[in-house]
Amino acid sequence: MATNATQDEDKLVDPITERPGFDETESRIAISGHPIHAMSVAFPIALTFCAFGADLLYWWTGDAFWARAAIWAAGTGFGFGMLAAFSGTAELLLVSGIRARAAPWTHAIIAVTLLALLGASWAHRLYGYEEAVLPYGILLSGLSLVMVGFTGWHGGKLVFDYRLGTAKGS
Ligand code: HEM
Repeated sequence: MATNATQDEDKLVDPITERPGFDETESRIAISGHPIHAMSVAFPIALTFCAFGADLLYWWTGDAFWARAAIWAAGTGFGFGMLAAFSGTAELLLVSGIRARAAPWTHAIIAVTLLALLGASWAHRLYGYEEAVLPYGILLSGLSLVMVGFTGWHGGKLVFDYRLGTAKGS
């Protein structure tokens, strides 16, 4: 038995040495070592909150100003979200250690769901931004808020738990 166990141990392979580049996780899409993705996600996150807030204020006050603010927040949130997604996708495809892990692909799927909601929230308002708010505008901006929280939380996991995109220790 002991001999068989030793033979099994001999067959074990270290996945990290088997996959060259698995520990290469440093950001490539960066300015002076600062990842562009991390810098750009603040905009869609903040604008998603603004869109929901403006929808709530329109519901409360009935003032058209808030419906106009909501269409701008949803549209610019979608636009900046697309820009953030480009830098994130480049990071995902170009950095071998990020590409090889499952979690960043999960993050991409969550993020694309968020972008679809932001795009729908904006497009829905294009042909009458006041009538669009209730009920579907606020429903879409509320769902976007939930998804942006999930996306941001998961992105933070990638960086702070898995250390993806961070500089290697010296
Ligand atoms: C397909 C689209 C996306 C991909 C492939 C992607 C990929 C990544 C990757 C690889 C990281 C690790 C850090 C790095 O290497 O820069 C990351 C971090 C992060 N992502 Fe994304 N991402 C996408 C879209 C988004 C969007 C739309 C948001 C939010 C609106 C977002 C929020 C975050 C956050 C908050 C972090 C943590 C940044 C930090 O704290 O330093 N991501 N993402």
